[in-house]
Amino acid sequence: MDIYTKLESNVRGYCRSFPVTFTKAQNATLHDNEGNQYVDFLGGAGTLNYGHNNPIFKKALLEYIEADSITHGLDMHTEAKTAFLESFDNNILQPRIMEYKVQFTGPTGTNAVEAALKIARNVTGRQTIVSFTNGFHGVTQGAAAVTANMYYKESIGMPLAGASFMPYDGYLGDFDTLIYLEKALSDKSSGLGHPAAVIVETIQGEGGLNAGKAEWFQGLQKICKKHDMLLIVDDIQAGCGRSGTFFSFEDFNIQPDIITLSKSLSGYGLPMAIVLMKPELDIWKPGEHNGTFRGNNHAFVTARMAIDTYWKDTEFSDSVKNKAKIIRGRLKEIQAKYGSKVKHKGRGIMQGLEFANGEIADRITELAFERGLVIETSGSDGQVVKILTPLTIEESTLNKGLEILEGCVATTMNEDVAKAS
Ligand SMILES: Cc1ncc(COP(=O)(O)O)c(C=O)c1O
Repeated sequence: MDIYTKLESNVRGYCRSFPVTFTKAQNATLHDNEGNQYVDFLGGAGTLNYGHNNPIFKKALLEYIEADSITHGLDMHTEAKTAFLESFDNNILQPRIMEYKVQFTGPTGTNAVEAALKIARNVTGRQTIVSFTNGFHGVTQGAAAVTANMYYKESIGMPLAGASFMPYDGYLGDFDTLIYLEKALSDKSSGLGHPAAVIVETIQGEGGLNAGKAEWFQGLQKICKKHDMLLIVDDIQAGCGRSGTFFSFEDFNIQPDIITLSKSLSGYGLPMAIVLMKPELDIWKPGEHNGTFRGNNHAFVTARMAIDTYWKDTEFSDSVKNKAKIIRGRLKEIQAKYGSKVKHKGRGIMQGLEFANGEIADRITELAFERGLVIETSGSDGQVVKILTPLTIEESTLNKGLEILEGCVATTMNEDVAKAS
């Protein structure tokens, strides 16, 4: 019995899919303690958009630590925090003409979601939050209430209140699901009542890479305005460049009232989360929503470096879009080979392939790991094989990973055919 089986809770997850001991990593390559090397298409579940041990961030962080600078600052002013806020304002908010206040929450995504839900409820004085089928927003009680998957909801162990679920774009095929939302909001007898807000992902990361259309989001914003509800975009997974732009909704021409960011915000895998809210929504009383770990200054150092390095011009964004095109082309080719058995999903560097069931997708990811590719599944049945590689991946490594993936799909689909005959 190894130390993990002996000591670590049964709740552990990823280590079951990738049962080795990892030692080192650089950009999109992982190494284990037996000398094996893996292409990383998991990217710390979307936390390593700028790669493992990004050398620019590493240098800045080492210098900061070497100088005995502040590590933990609660919400006190520090030089690292000032520099992050100034860079975020100058390079992210102002060029996009976005006027928002920044709230530092506890350092995980679910903390930011909890704060966003509280803001919406406190500002409107209403309780219900509209969430969407296949939405994922975290596993603490409030976030689990607006998360769709019963696996996470049931683990809370008590009734979850304050959420109503509506069909996401595409959930009912070609039917415009906003028709149902509008009808339910306009009908006093629909059972929905008057919600405080909607919370939505532009690309459903855990829910199977469903990417809503721009028009759907524009329609959703219109409905929110008409019915006096706040629009919360949860950009924790799709944000920080993963879609090709810093915010995933930049090409949609919408202005969310509240935005949550975490995962790749620090750029170095260091925990950090924020909520952006329109200034008039900032009705918090001092310290009302607190948390000991809101001042991870190491994360502020690398978050600032991430913005200064990659978001001062469009070079990085263009390179992400180019790699997304390569991925799309390759996945579409694979889809074409297998007809209706394989479906391309997602956008940006958040794409994947949907299979008939989770068993097939699991077989593909297991084989991939044997052949040197770390990749996970998502979706209600785990039926979608999902590419979430660092955005900085070298094109040669990207192609190597896609090659392995294509081979694993071929082996698995042939096995499936052989089983059926
Ligand atoms: C869209 C979205 N929101 C919230 C969360 C929760 O973030 P965390 O796991 O850091 O609590 C996730 C995590 O995958 C996510 O993808």
